[in-house]
Amino acid sequence: MSNKTESYQPDTNATLGADGHPDDASPVKITEQPTRSQQVSSLAPVPRISIHVFCENPETADAFQGAADDRRLAKAHLTVQMGGIETASVHFQDLSTPNLIVVETNEQGQKILEELAKLAAVCDPSTKVIVVGQTNDITIYRELIRQGVSEYMINPINSLQVIETVSSLYVDPDAQPIGRNIAFVGARGGVGSSSLAHNVGWIIAERLKEGATIVDLDLPFGTTGLDFNQDPAQGIGDAIMSPERVDDVLLDRLLVKQTERLSLFTSPSTLDREFDLDPIAFESVLDIVRKSVPYVIIDMPHLWTAWSKSVLLTADDIVIVASPDLASLRNAKNYFEILKSARPNDNPARLVINQSGVPKRPEIPTKDFAEAIGVKATAVLQFDPHTFGVASNNGQMLAEVDEKSAVVAELEAFTSELLGREPEKATDKSSIFSVFKKKRSA
Ligand SMILES: Nc1ncnc2c1ncn2[C@@H]1O[C@H](COP(=O)(O)OP(=O)(O)OP(=O)(O)O)[C@@H](O)[C@H]1O
Ligand SMILES: [Mg+2]
Repeated sequence: MSNKTESYQPDTNATLGADGHPDDASPVKITEQPTRSQQVSSLAPVPRISIHVFCENPETADAFQGAADDRRLAKAHLTVQMGGIETASVHFQDLSTPNLIVVETNEQGQKILEELAKLAAVCDPSTKVIVVGQTNDITIYRELIRQGVSEYMINPINSLQVIETVSSLYVDPDAQPIGRNIAFVGARGGVGSSSLAHNVGWIIAERLKEGATIVDLDLPFGTTGLDFNQDPAQGIGDAIMSPERVDDVLLDRLLVKQTERLSLFTSPSTLDREFDLDPIAFESVLDIVRKSVPYVIIDMPHLWTAWSKSVLLTADDIVIVASPDLASLRNAKNYFEILKSARPNDNPARLVINQSGVPKRPEIPTKDFAEAIGVKATAVLQFDPHTFGVASNNGQMLAEVDEKSAVVAELEAFTSELLGREPEKATDKSSIFSVFKKKRSA
Protein backbone atom coordinates (compact mmCIF):
# COMPACT_ATOMS: atom_id res chain seq x y z
CA MET A 1 0.00 0.00 0.00
CA SER A 2 1.53 3.21 -1.15
CA ASN A 3 0.30 5.38 1.68
CA LYS A 4 1.34 3.00 4.42
CA THR A 5 4.21 5.16 5.51
CA GLU A 6 2.21 8.37 5.66
CA SER A 7 1.10 9.66 9.02
CA TYR A 8 -2.55 9.74 9.92
CA GLN A 9 -4.21 12.78 8.32
CA PRO A 10 -7.89 12.09 8.10
CA ASP A 11 -10.28 13.67 5.71
CA THR A 12 -13.08 14.37 8.15
CA ASN A 13 -15.53 15.18 5.33
CA ALA A 14 -15.25 11.73 3.84
CA THR A 15 -18.36 9.62 3.98
CA LEU A 16 -19.41 6.26 2.77
CA GLY A 17 -22.48 5.49 0.69
CA ALA A 18 -25.77 5.02 2.46
CA ASP A 19 -25.27 1.30 2.60
CA GLY A 20 -21.59 1.75 3.26
CA HIS A 21 -20.80 -0.25 0.10
CA PRO A 22 -20.16 1.65 -3.12
CA ASP A 23 -20.71 -0.14 -6.42
CA ASP A 24 -17.08 -0.98 -6.95
CA ALA A 25 -16.83 -2.79 -3.64
CA SER A 26 -15.04 -5.97 -4.55
CA PRO A 27 -15.13 -9.12 -2.47
CA VAL A 28 -11.47 -8.71 -1.58
CA LYS A 29 -10.65 -10.59 1.58
CA ILE A 30 -8.68 -8.34 3.85
CA THR A 31 -8.05 -10.79 6.60
CA GLU A 32 -4.70 -12.41 6.16
CA GLN A 33 -4.15 -16.00 7.04
CA PRO A 34 -2.30 -16.36 10.33
CA THR A 35 1.34 -16.18 9.43
CA ARG A 36 3.62 -19.07 10.19
CA SER A 37 6.46 -18.18 12.51
CA GLN A 38 8.87 -19.46 9.86
CA GLN A 39 7.80 -16.62 7.59
CA VAL A 40 8.31 -13.89 10.15
CA SER A 41 11.39 -15.41 11.72
CA SER A 42 13.73 -13.27 9.65
CA LEU A 43 11.95 -9.97 10.13
CA ALA A 44 14.29 -7.21 11.20
CA PRO A 45 13.69 -6.06 14.77
CA VAL A 46 11.35 -3.10 15.06
CA PRO A 47 13.25 0.05 16.11
CA ARG A 48 12.91 1.84 19.44
CA ILE A 49 9.43 3.26 18.90
CA SER A 50 6.61 3.86 21.35
CA ILE A 51 3.30 2.12 20.73
CA HIS A 52 0.08 2.70 22.66
CA VAL A 53 -2.70 0.17 22.16
CA PHE A 54 -6.34 0.74 23.12
CA CYS A 55 -8.36 -2.46 23.11
CA GLU A 56 -12.07 -3.13 23.43
CA ASN A 57 -11.67 -6.89 23.85
CA PRO A 58 -9.36 -8.86 26.16
CA GLU A 59 -8.38 -11.25 23.31
CA THR A 60 -7.02 -8.32 21.32
CA ALA A 61 -5.11 -7.09 24.39
CA ASP A 62 -3.60 -10.58 24.74
CA ALA A 63 -2.46 -10.59 21.11
CA PHE A 64 -0.67 -7.26 21.58
CA GLN A 65 0.77 -8.25 24.94
CA GLY A 66 2.11 -11.43 23.32
CA ALA A 67 3.71 -9.37 20.58
CA ALA A 68 5.22 -6.99 23.15
CA ASP A 69 7.07 -9.92 24.70
CA ASP A 70 8.41 -11.09 21.35
CA ARG A 71 12.11 -10.69 20.52
CA ARG A 72 11.30 -8.72 17.34
CA LEU A 73 9.50 -6.04 19.33
CA ALA A 74 11.99 -6.08 22.21
CA LYS A 75 13.29 -2.57 21.46
CA ALA A 76 9.84 -1.02 21.10
CA HIS A 77 7.95 0.29 24.11
CA LEU A 78 4.42 -1.05 23.93
CA THR A 79 1.60 -0.11 26.32
CA VAL A 80 -1.72 -1.89 26.25
CA GLN A 81 -4.80 -0.26 27.78
CA MET A 82 -8.45 -1.21 27.70
CA GLY A 83 -10.81 1.20 25.92
CA GLY A 84 -11.44 2.11 22.31
CA ILE A 85 -11.02 5.13 20.05
CA GLU A 86 -12.91 7.37 22.47
CA THR A 87 -10.59 6.47 25.35
CA ALA A 88 -7.57 7.14 23.14
CA SER A 89 -8.88 10.57 22.12
CA VAL A 90 -9.43 11.56 25.76
CA HIS A 91 -6.08 10.10 26.84
CA PHE A 92 -4.06 12.17 24.38
CA GLN A 93 -5.94 15.43 24.83
CA ASP A 94 -3.09 16.97 26.84
CA LEU A 95 -0.33 14.53 25.97
CA SER A 96 1.84 14.20 22.92
CA THR A 97 1.04 11.08 20.91
CA PRO A 98 3.46 8.14 20.53
CA ASN A 99 4.97 6.89 17.26
CA LEU A 100 2.11 4.46 16.79
CA ILE A 101 -1.42 4.33 18.18
CA VAL A 102 -3.49 1.18 17.79
CA VAL A 103 -7.21 1.53 18.40
CA GLU A 104 -9.73 -1.25 18.44
CA THR A 105 -13.32 -0.50 17.59
CA ASN A 106 -16.51 -2.51 17.93
CA GLU A 107 -18.26 -0.02 15.64
CA GLN A 108 -18.84 -0.43 11.91
CA GLY A 109 -18.81 1.72 8.76
CA GLN A 110 -19.32 5.46 9.03
CA LYS A 111 -19.31 5.38 12.85
CA ILE A 112 -15.64 4.34 12.82
CA LEU A 113 -14.75 7.38 10.70
CA GLU A 114 -16.63 9.69 13.04
CA GLU A 115 -14.81 8.33 16.10
CA LEU A 116 -11.47 8.57 14.34
CA ALA A 117 -12.04 12.22 13.51
CA LYS A 118 -11.87 12.94 17.26
CA LEU A 119 -8.63 11.05 17.59
CA ALA A 120 -7.23 12.88 14.58
CA ALA A 121 -7.77 16.18 16.35
CA VAL A 122 -5.28 15.22 19.09
CA CYS A 123 -2.76 13.25 16.98
CA ASP A 124 0.71 14.62 16.29
CA PRO A 125 1.44 14.67 12.55
CA SER A 126 4.14 12.03 12.81
CA THR A 127 1.96 9.50 14.64
CA LYS A 128 0.79 6.46 12.72
CA VAL A 129 -2.52 4.77 13.43
CA ILE A 130 -3.62 1.15 13.11
CA VAL A 131 -7.31 0.36 13.47
CA VAL A 132 -8.46 -3.04 14.65
CA GLY A 133 -12.04 -3.71 13.58
CA GLN A 134 -14.55 -6.51 13.75
CA THR A 135 -15.77 -6.66 10.15
CA ASN A 136 -14.14 -7.62 6.90
CA ASP A 137 -15.32 -4.54 5.03
CA ILE A 138 -13.32 -3.51 1.98
CA THR A 139 -15.05 -0.14 1.79
CA ILE A 140 -14.10 0.92 5.27
CA TYR A 141 -10.63 -0.48 4.70
CA ARG A 142 -10.12 1.63 1.58
CA GLU A 143 -11.51 4.74 3.23
CA LEU A 144 -9.30 4.34 6.28
CA ILE A 145 -6.20 3.81 4.15
CA ARG A 146 -7.17 6.80 2.00
CA GLN A 147 -7.30 8.94 5.13
CA GLY A 148 -3.81 7.91 6.15
CA VAL A 149 -4.57 5.12 8.60
CA SER A 150 -1.61 2.78 8.20
CA GLU A 151 -3.44 -0.53 8.49
CA TYR A 152 -6.86 -1.99 9.20
CA MET A 153 -6.61 -5.31 11.00
CA ILE A 154 -9.58 -7.58 11.47
CA ASN A 155 -10.30 -9.66 14.53
CA PRO A 156 -9.46 -12.29 15.51
CA ILE A 157 -5.80 -11.31 15.36
CA ASN A 158 -2.80 -13.09 16.81
CA SER A 159 0.59 -11.93 18.04
CA LEU A 160 2.36 -12.93 14.83
CA GLN A 161 0.05 -10.76 12.74
CA VAL A 162 0.73 -7.87 15.12
CA ILE A 163 4.50 -8.35 14.77
CA GLU A 164 4.25 -8.53 10.99
CA THR A 165 2.02 -5.48 10.69
CA VAL A 166 4.08 -3.27 13.01
CA SER A 167 7.26 -4.47 11.32
CA SER A 168 5.86 -3.65 7.87
CA LEU A 169 5.35 -0.05 9.02
CA TYR A 170 8.76 0.52 10.56
CA VAL A 171 11.17 -1.70 8.68
CA ASP A 172 12.04 -0.06 5.37
CA PRO A 173 10.62 -2.23 2.57
CA ASP A 174 13.43 -1.06 0.27
CA ALA A 175 16.08 -2.06 2.76
CA GLN A 176 18.19 -5.03 1.82
CA PRO A 177 16.78 -8.34 3.01
CA ILE A 178 18.41 -9.48 6.19
CA GLY A 179 20.10 -12.79 6.79
CA ARG A 180 18.90 -15.52 9.08
CA ASN A 181 20.78 -15.93 12.35
CA ILE A 182 21.23 -19.58 13.26
CA ALA A 183 22.80 -20.11 16.69
CA PHE A 184 24.54 -23.38 17.63
CA VAL A 185 25.01 -24.05 21.32
CA GLY A 186 26.32 -27.08 23.19
CA ALA A 187 24.21 -28.56 26.00
CA ARG A 188 27.51 -29.04 27.78
CA GLY A 189 31.15 -28.33 26.92
CA GLY A 190 32.91 -30.33 24.23
CA VAL A 191 29.86 -31.97 22.65
CA GLY A 192 30.81 -30.85 19.14
CA SER A 193 28.64 -27.75 18.79
CA SER A 194 31.40 -25.73 17.09
CA SER A 195 32.41 -28.54 14.73
CA LEU A 196 28.79 -28.96 13.63
CA ALA A 197 28.25 -25.19 13.28
CA HIS A 198 31.34 -24.90 11.05
CA ASN A 199 30.38 -27.87 8.89
CA VAL A 200 26.80 -26.66 8.50
CA GLY A 201 28.09 -23.21 7.47
CA TRP A 202 30.38 -24.87 4.92
CA ILE A 203 27.57 -27.07 3.55
CA ILE A 204 25.30 -24.03 3.16
CA ALA A 205 28.00 -22.27 1.13
CA GLU A 206 29.59 -25.12 -0.81
CA ARG A 207 26.73 -27.54 -1.30
CA LEU A 208 23.61 -25.41 -1.15
CA LYS A 209 25.40 -22.48 -2.83
CA GLU A 210 24.14 -19.81 -0.44
CA GLY A 211 26.20 -17.08 1.18
CA ALA A 212 27.06 -17.78 4.81
CA THR A 213 29.17 -16.18 7.51
CA ILE A 214 30.32 -18.09 10.57
CA VAL A 215 30.58 -15.86 13.61
CA ASP A 216 32.71 -17.33 16.41
CA LEU A 217 31.47 -15.95 19.72
CA ASP A 218 33.68 -18.19 21.83
CA LEU A 219 35.94 -15.18 22.14
CA PRO A 220 38.79 -16.60 24.28
CA PHE A 221 38.73 -20.21 23.05
CA GLY A 222 37.06 -20.28 19.60
CA THR A 223 38.16 -22.87 17.03
CA THR A 224 36.82 -21.41 13.77
CA GLY A 225 40.31 -20.27 12.73
CA LEU A 226 41.81 -23.68 13.52
CA ASP A 227 39.01 -25.63 11.84
CA PHE A 228 39.43 -23.68 8.59
CA ASN A 229 43.21 -23.42 8.80
CA GLN A 230 43.18 -19.63 9.13
CA ASP A 231 45.03 -17.33 11.50
CA PRO A 232 43.90 -13.79 10.76
CA ALA A 233 45.28 -10.87 12.76
CA GLN A 234 41.82 -9.37 13.21
CA GLY A 235 38.31 -10.67 13.70
CA ILE A 236 35.18 -10.45 15.79
CA GLY A 237 37.10 -9.23 18.85
CA ASP A 238 37.96 -5.97 17.09
CA ALA A 239 34.32 -5.47 16.12
CA ILE A 240 32.88 -6.26 19.55
CA MET A 241 35.37 -3.97 21.31
CA SER A 242 34.30 -0.97 19.23
CA PRO A 243 30.91 -1.78 17.70
CA GLU A 244 30.30 1.88 16.83
CA ARG A 245 33.13 1.70 14.26
CA VAL A 246 31.71 -1.30 12.43
CA ASP A 247 30.33 -0.60 8.98
CA ASP A 248 30.36 -2.53 5.69
CA VAL A 249 33.90 -1.43 4.89
CA LEU A 250 35.38 -2.43 8.24
CA LEU A 251 33.35 -5.65 8.21
CA ASP A 252 34.91 -6.56 4.87
CA ARG A 253 38.38 -6.07 6.37
CA LEU A 254 37.65 -8.09 9.50
CA LEU A 255 36.07 -11.09 7.77
CA VAL A 256 38.14 -13.92 6.33
CA LYS A 257 36.88 -14.93 2.89
CA GLN A 258 37.25 -18.68 3.12
CA THR A 259 35.53 -19.47 -0.19
CA GLU A 260 33.50 -17.50 -2.69
CA ARG A 261 30.39 -17.85 -0.52
CA LEU A 262 31.75 -18.55 2.96
CA SER A 263 33.18 -15.89 5.28
CA LEU A 264 34.55 -16.31 8.77
CA PHE A 265 34.41 -13.94 11.69
CA THR A 266 37.10 -15.58 13.79
CA SER A 267 37.48 -15.14 17.55
CA PRO A 268 40.58 -13.53 19.07
CA SER A 269 41.29 -16.80 20.96
CA THR A 270 43.50 -15.05 23.48
CA LEU A 271 43.51 -14.68 27.24
CA ASP A 272 45.12 -11.23 27.09
CA ARG A 273 41.85 -9.56 27.97
CA GLU A 274 38.49 -10.40 29.53
CA PHE A 275 35.31 -10.49 27.51
CA ASP A 276 32.63 -9.31 29.96
CA LEU A 277 30.82 -7.36 27.32
CA ASP A 278 27.62 -5.43 26.88
CA PRO A 279 24.85 -7.34 25.04
CA ILE A 280 24.26 -4.22 22.93
CA ALA A 281 27.75 -4.59 21.39
CA PHE A 282 26.87 -8.07 20.10
CA GLU A 283 23.47 -6.95 18.93
CA SER A 284 24.83 -4.10 16.84
CA VAL A 285 27.65 -6.15 15.29
CA LEU A 286 25.29 -9.04 14.45
CA ASP A 287 22.80 -6.55 12.95
CA ILE A 288 25.47 -5.43 10.51
CA VAL A 289 26.70 -8.94 9.70
CA ARG A 290 23.21 -10.17 8.88
CA LYS A 291 22.72 -7.35 6.39
CA SER A 292 25.65 -8.66 4.38
CA VAL A 293 24.78 -12.33 3.92
CA PRO A 294 21.73 -14.65 3.77
CA TYR A 295 22.86 -17.00 6.57
CA VAL A 296 24.74 -16.17 9.75
CA ILE A 297 25.94 -19.20 11.71
CA ILE A 298 26.62 -18.18 15.29
CA ASP A 299 29.02 -20.48 17.12
CA MET A 300 28.02 -19.90 20.75
CA PRO A 301 30.31 -20.65 23.67
CA HIS A 302 29.11 -22.91 26.46
CA LEU A 303 28.30 -19.95 28.69
CA TRP A 304 25.31 -18.31 30.35
CA THR A 305 25.94 -14.59 30.66
CA ALA A 306 23.81 -11.53 29.91
CA TRP A 307 25.23 -11.27 26.40
CA SER A 308 25.19 -14.97 25.52
CA LYS A 309 21.61 -15.28 26.73
CA SER A 310 20.55 -12.25 24.73
CA VAL A 311 22.28 -13.46 21.53
CA LEU A 312 20.68 -16.87 21.88
CA LEU A 313 17.18 -15.61 22.63
CA THR A 314 17.23 -13.23 19.67
CA ALA A 315 18.49 -15.71 17.06
CA ASP A 316 16.09 -16.72 14.30
CA ASP A 317 16.85 -20.42 14.72
CA ILE A 318 18.57 -22.31 17.49
CA VAL A 319 20.37 -25.66 17.32
CA ILE A 320 21.11 -27.38 20.61
CA VAL A 321 23.85 -29.96 20.32
CA ALA A 322 23.89 -32.64 23.01
CA SER A 323 25.80 -35.82 23.68
CA PRO A 324 23.70 -38.76 24.92
CA ASP A 325 24.52 -38.42 28.63
CA LEU A 326 22.79 -37.18 31.76
CA ALA A 327 24.46 -33.77 32.03
CA SER A 328 23.57 -32.98 28.41
CA LEU A 329 20.02 -34.15 28.99
CA ARG A 330 19.51 -31.95 32.05
CA ASN A 331 21.02 -28.90 30.38
CA ALA A 332 19.24 -29.43 27.05
CA LYS A 333 15.94 -29.72 28.94
CA ASN A 334 16.68 -26.42 30.68
CA TYR A 335 17.50 -24.80 27.35
CA PHE A 336 14.28 -26.00 25.75
CA GLU A 337 12.24 -24.80 28.71
CA ILE A 338 13.64 -21.29 28.78
CA LEU A 339 13.48 -20.97 25.00
CA LYS A 340 9.88 -22.11 24.91
CA SER A 341 8.76 -19.54 27.46
CA ALA A 342 10.91 -16.69 26.09
CA ARG A 343 10.06 -17.33 22.43
CA PRO A 344 6.40 -18.36 22.27
CA ASN A 345 5.99 -17.15 18.68
CA ASP A 346 9.04 -18.94 17.28
CA ASN A 347 9.75 -22.38 15.95
CA PRO A 348 11.13 -24.59 18.71
CA ALA A 349 14.88 -25.09 18.86
CA ARG A 350 16.30 -28.14 17.06
CA LEU A 351 17.94 -30.93 18.98
CA VAL A 352 21.00 -32.66 17.53
CA ILE A 353 22.48 -35.65 19.33
CA ASN A 354 26.19 -35.90 18.61
CA GLN A 355 28.86 -38.45 19.45
CA SER A 356 26.42 -41.31 19.76
CA GLY A 357 27.96 -44.76 19.95
CA VAL A 358 31.27 -44.12 21.72
CA PRO A 359 32.69 -47.65 22.18
CA LYS A 360 32.14 -49.09 25.65
CA ARG A 361 30.43 -45.93 26.88
CA PRO A 362 26.88 -46.44 28.15
CA GLU A 363 24.51 -43.83 26.75
CA ILE A 364 20.92 -42.67 26.93
CA PRO A 365 19.05 -43.96 23.85
CA THR A 366 18.04 -41.16 21.46
CA LYS A 367 14.33 -41.96 21.83
CA ASP A 368 14.47 -41.71 25.64
CA PHE A 369 16.63 -38.60 25.48
CA ALA A 370 14.23 -36.81 23.13
CA GLU A 371 11.13 -38.00 24.99
CA ALA A 372 12.47 -36.71 28.31
CA ILE A 373 12.71 -33.26 26.75
CA GLY A 374 9.48 -33.55 24.79
CA VAL A 375 10.98 -32.94 21.33
CA LYS A 376 12.25 -35.02 18.43
CA ALA A 377 15.94 -35.17 17.59
CA THR A 378 16.38 -33.52 14.19
CA ALA A 379 19.69 -35.29 13.61
CA VAL A 380 21.77 -37.98 15.30
CA LEU A 381 25.49 -38.12 14.52
CA GLN A 382 27.62 -41.10 15.32
CA PHE A 383 30.90 -40.87 17.14
CA ASP A 384 33.42 -40.88 14.28
CA PRO A 385 36.83 -40.09 15.75
CA HIS A 386 38.68 -40.76 12.52
CA THR A 387 36.81 -38.34 10.26
CA PHE A 388 36.49 -35.66 12.97
CA GLY A 389 40.11 -36.15 14.08
CA VAL A 390 41.58 -35.87 10.58
CA ALA A 391 39.38 -32.86 9.80
CA SER A 392 40.50 -31.15 13.02
CA ASN A 393 44.17 -31.84 12.50
CA ASN A 394 44.14 -30.75 8.86
CA GLY A 395 41.97 -27.66 9.30
CA GLN A 396 39.41 -29.17 6.90
CA MET A 397 35.70 -29.82 6.83
CA LEU A 398 34.31 -33.34 7.23
CA ALA A 399 33.17 -33.57 3.60
CA GLU A 400 36.69 -32.66 2.44
CA VAL A 401 38.05 -35.57 4.49
CA ASP A 402 35.47 -38.22 3.64
CA GLU A 403 32.52 -37.12 1.57
CA LYS A 404 30.92 -40.57 1.81
CA SER A 405 30.90 -40.76 5.59
CA ALA A 406 27.62 -41.20 7.45
CA VAL A 407 28.19 -38.05 9.52
CA VAL A 408 28.48 -35.96 6.35
CA ALA A 409 25.26 -37.42 4.93
CA GLU A 410 23.46 -36.74 8.20
CA LEU A 411 24.78 -33.18 8.38
CA GLU A 412 23.74 -32.48 4.78
CA ALA A 413 20.24 -33.78 5.47
CA PHE A 414 20.11 -31.67 8.62
CA THR A 415 21.28 -28.54 6.79
CA SER A 416 18.66 -28.97 4.08
CA GLU A 417 15.97 -29.33 6.70
CA LEU A 418 17.29 -26.29 8.56
CA LEU A 419 17.11 -24.15 5.43
CA GLY A 420 13.84 -25.71 4.34
CA ARG A 421 15.17 -26.84 0.98
CA GLU A 422 16.71 -29.68 -0.95
CA PRO A 423 20.28 -29.53 -2.20
CA GLU A 424 20.90 -28.67 -5.86
CA LYS A 425 20.89 -31.52 -8.34
CA ALA A 426 24.28 -33.10 -8.74
CA THR A 427 25.71 -33.25 -12.23
CA ASP A 428 28.62 -35.39 -11.21
CA LYS A 429 27.46 -38.87 -10.28
CA SER A 430 30.29 -39.40 -7.86
CA SER A 431 29.64 -36.14 -6.08
CA ILE A 432 28.56 -35.92 -2.49
CA PHE A 433 25.01 -35.22 -3.57
CA SER A 434 24.47 -38.62 -5.06
CA VAL A 435 25.51 -40.17 -1.77
CA PHE A 436 23.34 -37.76 0.12
CA LYS A 437 20.31 -38.34 -2.08
CA LYS A 438 20.64 -42.10 -1.85
CA LYS A 439 20.70 -41.88 1.92
CA ARG A 440 17.76 -39.51 1.99
CA SER A 441 15.57 -41.67 -0.18
CA ALA A 442 16.60 -44.90 1.54
N1 LIG B 1 30.67 -37.03 16.21
C1 LIG B 1 31.92 -36.87 16.63
N2 LIG B 1 32.79 -37.90 16.65
C2 LIG B 1 34.05 -37.76 17.08
N3 LIG B 1 34.56 -36.60 17.49
C3 LIG B 1 33.77 -35.53 17.50
C4 LIG B 1 32.42 -35.59 17.07
N4 LIG B 1 31.88 -34.36 17.20
C5 LIG B 1 32.85 -33.56 17.67
N5 LIG B 1 33.98 -34.23 17.84
C6 LIG B 1 35.26 -33.73 18.37
O1 LIG B 1 35.00 -33.27 19.68
C7 LIG B 1 35.87 -32.20 19.99
C8 LIG B 1 35.08 -31.04 20.56
O2 LIG B 1 34.32 -30.49 19.53
P1 LIG B 1 33.89 -28.97 19.50
O3 LIG B 1 35.02 -28.07 19.81
O4 LIG B 1 33.16 -28.78 18.22
O5 LIG B 1 32.86 -29.00 20.71
P2 LIG B 1 32.15 -27.75 21.40
O6 LIG B 1 30.83 -28.27 21.87
O7 LIG B 1 32.13 -26.59 20.51
O8 LIG B 1 33.11 -27.51 22.63
P3 LIG B 1 33.27 -26.18 23.54
O9 LIG B 1 32.39 -26.41 24.73
O10 LIG B 1 34.72 -26.17 23.90
O11 LIG B 1 32.88 -25.01 22.73
C9 LIG B 1 36.62 -31.86 18.72
O12 LIG B 1 37.89 -32.43 18.76
C10 LIG B 1 35.79 -32.52 17.63
O13 LIG B 1 36.57 -32.88 16.52
MG1 LIG C 1 32.57 -24.60 20.83
